[in-house]
Amino acid sequence: MQHTEERTFIAVKPDGVQRGLIGGIINRFEKKGFKVVGLKMIQVSDEQAKAHYAEHEGKPFYPRLLRYIQSGPIVAMVIQGYNAVAGARHIMGSTDPNKAEVGTIRADYAQVMEYNIVHGSDSVESAEREIKIYFNENELFPQGKCMSELVIESLDAD
Ligand code: RTP
Ligand code: MG
Repeated sequence: MQHTEERTFIAVKPDGVQRGLIGGIINRFEKKGFKVVGLKMIQVSDEQAKAHYAEHEGKPFYPRLLRYIQSGPIVAMVIQGYNAVAGARHIMGSTDPNKAEVGTIRADYAQVMEYNIVHGSDSVESAEREIKIYFNENELFPQGKCMSELVIESLDAD
């Protein structure tokens, strides 16, 4: 079987930024072995917020969701690695911090479902869509020979 690396879109949401958790959150993904290949602090525009959360339009929490993601700057990033989409969501924990496993970002840092500190794409397709909302391709820096490539080589070895 051919194994490949994935890219996923991660954001430290405004509450995470305001509470000084940027470094702690990035560190969790880096410790796992994922590579940060894109990173910036931005104020999310109306256009970006609506594009990002189009799937939630019409839900009761949708207006609060747009207000939340625009309530202050976010730290937007693209991380890369083997199984990065599911792996990142595993590190983040369930949407509801009260159901998330202890040790995950949301269980450890957040209290309620709507204000849950961090975003991560839910599939490879969502990741590619979301990356385009926030990054130009020339803002991404795929890394050369590094640990994650060696992981892939080892999986494909026999
Ligand atoms: P995210 O997109 O932020 O990584 O979160 P997720 O996949 O775990 O959850 P999703 O269903 O995509 O929801 C997006 C964000 O909307 C807020 N939310 N509130 N009150 C509610 O029932 C509710 N459900 C979702 C959360 O901020 C969630 O992260
Ligand atoms: Mg989601």
